[in-house]
Formats: sequence, structure tokens, C-alpha cells
Amino acid sequence: MSANKVLSSASKLARTKLGLDVKSVGAVMVEQAIATRIRKTRLTEEQYLYALETSGTEQEALCQLLLVSESWFEREQQPIESALTELYRNFSQIRALSVPCARGEEAITTLAIAKKVGFHPSLVSIDGYDASENAVEQANLFTYGEYSFRGTSEWFRTHLFSKVGDKYHLSPELQPSLHFNLANVLDPLWRPRCSQYELILCRNLLIYLRPRVRRQLLTKLSELLHPQGLIVATYSEASLLLDVGFKKDQISIAVFSPIQRAINKSANASKKRAKSPTRSAGPRTTPLLKNGTPPISQFHKQPSSRPSESPSTDLTAGIKELADAGRLDEAFALGLQLLEARPNDAQSHFILGVIASCCGQSEEARSWIERALILDPQHEDAKLYMDNVWGRH
Ligand SMILES: C[S@@+](CC[C@H](N)C(=O)[O-])C[C@H]1O[C@@H](n2cnc3c(N)ncnc32)[C@H](O)[C@@H]1O
Repeated sequence: MSANKVLSSASKLARTKLGLDVKSVGAVMVEQAIATRIRKTRLTEEQYLYALETSGTEQEALCQLLLVSESWFEREQQPIESALTELYRNFSQIRALSVPCARGEEAITTLAIAKKVGFHPSLVSIDGYDASENAVEQANLFTYGEYSFRGTSEWFRTHLFSKVGDKYHLSPELQPSLHFNLANVLDPLWRPRCSQYELILCRNLLIYLRPRVRRQLLTKLSELLHPQGLIVATYSEASLLLDVGFKKDQISIAVFSPIQRAINKSANASKKRAKSPTRSAGPRTTPLLKNGTPPISQFHKQPSSRPSESPSTDLTAGIKELADAGRLDEAFALGLQLLEARPNDAQSHFILGVIASCCGQSEEARSWIERALILDPQHEDAKLYMDNVWGRH
């Protein structure tokens, strides 16, 4: 009985203090945090419930356990690079905001890319904010273990860091550009250091938030974004930005990464198909829906068509290039051609869905991605997308 009450009190706290939608982080995580605090404080469940309801210190301690500062260098960096390349045309210096910044990996990645596209580090200033005390403390040490470099290029590690023992220290010449601070960015009183930023990075937070607080945060970010500035979001969060009025061309090509993954998978799948015996596709007899999409019934028990590998490989490369350049409408049109070549291919449907979503066409996106799942119920990206974008609304 007390256990339920503690869980409900903790969930309420997560909602009000952190704006967290407990469904999105999972009740298990909240339960684990409670168990840790009960162990640490050596209280009974009943005593802990009282502490949680009356002590600000205990509330803060529990909230800290609900913050997961999972990040790594060069994480989905393509949209950051696209944004900075674009910004380099219009600005000689950059103020960037990383919310949330975790231990600073995203901000350091941004600084490295800014240097690569031509900005001198002294003309780049990046403010990072995070609610996790641990994460911000670590960010300010500019010191990282192997774990932060998983999936990171050797160049990044060797050119920007020096190794001491088993730790890596960020080059001292880069450190003055980075400012990491503790803040709950949902606090109505939170104000970052600058009143305007040319670049805002807001990734892997929005999907965990309740719609109302998400909207409040995004409204604040839209006020902080320079009129010619760009905001970088993950592919599953881009549509949330469009919902609050960000313009398509203010959002950096967050669509790219999943498409790249989809393209890689498609290329592998088509190589495999090319090796195995195939059947030729029959003519399309089913009428198209209004948006040019074949109705779902068409996909049931259809034999796979054999794509002619080189034209569709060209098409996928073309889609990648267009999406990369932010030319989403053209990417979508090319995606429809890909669909002609691979009418029963889940990846093609997924790609179209992601582009549609990033164009703000939520309903259409949903229908494409649902089709991808009908064709391939194990399609990991489509499942993730459904869960992130629609599952928690
Ligand atoms: C998964 S990390 C994302 C880090 C980085 N943006 C990235 O995409 O790699 C999520 C971070 O959000 C932070 N966070 C969660 N709620 C927050 C809030 N209300 N204010 C500030 N930071 C918050 C957590 O502490 C955690 O470090």
C-alpha cells in the first residue's frame, strides 16, 4: 500500500518538477530511484513517503536519480554539421545553446564541427544547461572516460584531447568557449546567459516531457533563436518543433540520420536480394490513395518485388543528398520514385514517413510509417518512431 503511495507521490514530483511524463521514462525507473533513496536514507516506506512529501532536499535527491545523462561525442552529428555549414555563410561568430547538455559531449562535438567548417574557436561560445548536478560537475572538469567516445572517430579523440592515465582531457584552447551550468530549463525563471543564439541544440529531452511543458520550453527557445538562426533536433522531435510554430527551414536536417540508417539497411537488403532467387513484381492493379499511396490492403501477402539495384541505389543516394541539404520536398518526391521501384519495401515507406513528419505532415507521416510496420513488423526504426512521436501523446 505504502509502495503504491510512494510511487504515485514520486511520479507526481517527476511531473511537476521535471515535466516528465512517467510513462515515457517508465515506472520501473521511478521505482528503482525510490528503492535507491530508501536504501540510502534507511527509512521505511512509510517514513520515506513522509520525507518525500515534506522535504525539499529529499525531493531534489530523488529528482537527481531520475535524470539520465546519456550522451557521447559525435552523436548524430550530421544535422549539427549541416546547421553550422549553413550558419558559416551568414555569421562570423556563433553563440550556441545546448539544452540539455548532459556532460558536455554535444557542446564539444558542436565546437569541433564549428572549427572544422571554418569558425575560429575564439569566435564560438557554447552555453550548456542541464538539471543533473553530476553531469554539470563532470562537464566542467572537461575530462572524459572511454565511454563518452563510443562510436567516435579516432581523429576526434586524438586531435581534441590528451590522454592522462585512462582519462581524456579536452585541449585547454577549446575550454574557454564552453560554459556549463546547472539549471532546470523548465523553470519559468530560467534564463540562459545570452538573449539570443544563432544555434540551439535541443535533443533527447522533448520526447520525455508532457505536452504542456514541452510547448512552454519550445516557445522560450523560439524566442531565444536568432531570426536567421537554426535549431537542431532529433528526427523524432522535429515534428514537435513544427507543432509550436518553428519554420521548416529553421530546423536543421534532423531527418538525415534515420534515413541514412534506412538507406544502409536497404542497400544491404538489396545486395542480399540480388544474390537470392527472386520473383518479378506484378502490375499494380490497386488504385492509389489521394496522396499517391497504395492502400494498405495492397500490401497483404504480396510477393516481394525485385528492385533493379542500381537505379534505386541512385535514388536512395539522391534522397540522402536532398534531405541532407534540407530540400525535404524534393527528397519526398524522389522517395515516391523509390517506392515505385520498391513498392513492398518497408524502408522506402519509413523514409517517406520520416520526411513527411519533418515537413509537418503528421497524419501522412503516420500512415507511411504504419505501412512500413505492416510490411515489416520488426522494423526497429519504425517501431521507435511510432513510440517516440505518437506512442506517448
Ligand atoms: C539523454 S541526455 C541528452 C543530452 C544531449 N542533448 C544529447 O542529445 O546527447 C538528457 C539530459 O536531459 C537532462 N534533463 C532532463 N530534464 C531536464 C530539465 N528539466 N532541465 C535540464 N536538463 C534536464 C538530464 O539531466 C540529461 O542529462
